[in-house]
Amino acid sequence: MKIIGTGSVLPKKVVTNEMLSEFLDTSDEWIYTRTGIKTRHVISDEKLEDMAVEAAKKALDDAGMSAADLDFIICSNVVNEYITPSLSCIIQGGIGATCPCIDINCACAGFIYAVEMAESFYAAGKVKNVLIVCAEEPTRMTSWEDRRVCVLFGDGAGAAVLTEGDNIKGVKLSSASATDKLYQIRSLEPTPYATKEEQNIPLQMKGQDVFKFAVKASSGDITYLMDKLGMKAGDVDHFLLHQANMRIINTIASFLGQPSEKFPTNIEDHGNSSSACCPILLDECKRKGILKKGETVVMSAFGAGFVSGALVMEW
Ligand code: UT7
Repeated sequence: MKIIGTGSVLPKKVVTNEMLSEFLDTSDEWIYTRTGIKTRHVISDEKLEDMAVEAAKKALDDAGMSAADLDFIICSNVVNEYITPSLSCIIQGGIGATCPCIDINCACAGFIYAVEMAESFYAAGKVKNVLIVCAEEPTRMTSWEDRRVCVLFGDGAGAAVLTEGDNIKGVKLSSASATDKLYQIRSLEPTPYATKEEQNIPLQMKGQDVFKFAVKASSGDITYLMDKLGMKAGDVDHFLLHQANMRIINTIASFLGQPSEKFPTNIEDHGNSSSACCPILLDECKRKGILKKGETVVMSAFGAGFVSGALVMEW
């Protein structure tokens, strides 16, 4: 397939590191030097589903395609206010599409997983035009009293339209169960028979374990793809990585022996918006003219699960 349209939407409320240090024992100095984040966009009176629909409409406009032309909608989302129906069904109604839709929860790696699913459906001859929307509100998953976690995240929605083509050159997906490193737990409705104790636990993270996993998984996925496709890192024009921590991005860049200019980022302004990071960054790079036709782009993401994935495409 090939990506022919992108779109993104951010909440209007911008929260700076200084604003966080008004109610948390933290500082701009700590957050910026440890993560590279200065500000993040945080949902206030917006609804995530509205942002997802708007991002989808922007991507369709950009692709010059109507919702009626879509054969499949894949939505990557960890949390939103609806447990059911799926966010993809809500998006379908919002854009006026009629095709089948599905939600996936692959945490921060959702965009890469969605592209692989689209490619596989396309290769099986089942679809031609696919809409991917990654919409996330991780700021509603964290405790805003936990300085170790809440300072890292921002919200947003990013979308991409894929159609027939030969631009996605390869995708590598990986999973390695590690449920105590990055998780959130919610209690379910009680029944007369449910006997286990339940409680709501906001997002918990063993930061250094996740950091190590992220570097290993992303470097491994990218190296695997390079080898499989007979490429070298030097052949790649742009690496669009999950925006979790600037130090993670720099470590991967140095592992690959590639200059930081090849790694466009928006983490300074947006923080980590889970699976929405990849399509938002892609959309921003496209709109800024950073990506030129024919260039080779690698995308790579990693997150809770652990799951990770990378793709190589010709832009
Ligand atoms: O989307 C994928 C999921 N997330 C990630 O990929 C994140 C991966 N991990 C990381 O990015 C980093 O591990 C963090 C940014 C989360 C933490 O950075 P770190 O350099 O690993 O710091 P640390 O956890 O070792 O903490 C160092 C110190 C601790 O104090 P003590 O024990 O040394 O006294 C923390 O309590 O920094 C303290 N600390 C803070 N201080 C000020 C932790 N958070 C904060 C904070 N402000 N916000």
